[in-house]
Amino acid sequence: MTTATTPVSEHDLFSDHTLANTEEVYAELRELGTVVYLPANESYAITRYEAIREANSDPATFSSKQVAFNPQMNEILSGTSLAADPPEHGKLRAILTDNLSPRALRSLKDVINQDADALVKELIQKGTFDGMKDLAVAFPVSVVLDLIGVQGDKRDSILPWGEAAFNLLGPLNQRAQESFPLAGELFTWTHEDMKGEDLAEGSIGRAVWQAAERGEIAPESFGYLVHQILAAGMDTTIATIGNVIQLLAEYPEQYAALREDPKKIPAAVAETLRFRTPAPAFGRLATRDVEVDGTIIPAGSQVALLYGSGNRDEQKYENPDVFDIDRNPVDHLGFGYGIHGCAGQGLAKLEINGLMEAWLRNVESFTVTDVVPRLNNFSRPYDSMQVTITN
Ligand code: HEM
Repeated sequence: MTTATTPVSEHDLFSDHTLANTEEVYAELRELGTVVYLPANESYAITRYEAIREANSDPATFSSKQVAFNPQMNEILSGTSLAADPPEHGKLRAILTDNLSPRALRSLKDVINQDADALVKELIQKGTFDGMKDLAVAFPVSVVLDLIGVQGDKRDSILPWGEAAFNLLGPLNQRAQESFPLAGELFTWTHEDMKGEDLAEGSIGRAVWQAAERGEIAPESFGYLVHQILAAGMDTTIATIGNVIQLLAEYPEQYAALREDPKKIPAAVAETLRFRTPAPAFGRLATRDVEVDGTIIPAGSQVALLYGSGNRDEQKYENPDVFDIDRNPVDHLGFGYGIHGCAGQGLAKLEINGLMEAWLRNVESFTVTDVVPRLNNFSRPYDSMQVTITN
């Protein structure tokens, strides 16, 4: 049901066309209205920055019980903080924040920086390499797996599992259907097969397992925590590293400015997350009839919060389609906003900023060519890109 004035668009948020032209499609939707009904997704899309922030400030009305766009995945996710509403959300989130707080991560910083430096130096020796496989993927995968304490041959399986989990947050289109078996393997491993004793001594995974053994947290929290970190923490970070490298190659004068003043790295990363939002749409369930900028979203509707659109909203950002590392958009929506705002952003920033510091220290100039996109229902990493260091 739509109200008389509700704008309607035939776009499908998860079609190949939209996934390959996200900014263009979102701009059309923004032009139509703050709220646009999408019959293809049976969803009300919220397109404007302020309205998205307001929705995220009201989790009682915009519930996360439908954070994914298919019922099976919403069922599977129940029990995670991503899909929980208050008061359950607070309890689940506390386990995560205990383990991902700046204090908990402090000891990781030096290791991350050393690993970043070693990886960049190795790539300089190569000269030309795949910026996705050899850099954007290699780095976060090894950091996250070390963090959880995953050892042995499981390390190779986890990357495709994470990608599959992101496809499954969309509707059950072909991409999602094909991802069920792989995502199921991740779920079975974290919830049934994974043994705390198998995780490395001193890792966060091991510490959570020990807390469960001591009865401090529910036994099932262990599986959920590891599942969330593996599923949520990889593809988004991978996409962001690929994006920052590609954008700085496209704007060499901004790269030169960054080398002059590396303190701008956090601003450059924030601008990357704004400009090319890695996870551009998340779902919600409207629990009551709610008016958003003059349009009624009926109770029971699937809602799509278009973070990628809010980040390009001309009512919020001046010249939003210009990439500018001096903008420093600290309030971007790339990590969401409100109680569900990304619980792993401290770790993501540690990884990406650490890698960029090493890159700036070691790489004077570089080019990126042959960028190949990869379509995923919920995240936007490139498949491959050729990077050549021209020091
Ligand atoms: C650049 C990298 C990342 C981006 C862009 C990103 C993006 C997001 C976004 C947009 C949300 C909000 C979802 C919503 O509104 O429903 C979110 C939530 C979340 N993220 Fe991230 N994320 C990143 C990295 C990570 C990492 C490294 C981890 C884990 C180690 C992580 C764990 C989580 C968790 C657990 C949630 C759910 C929080 C809650 O519902 O309370 N993310 N992320």
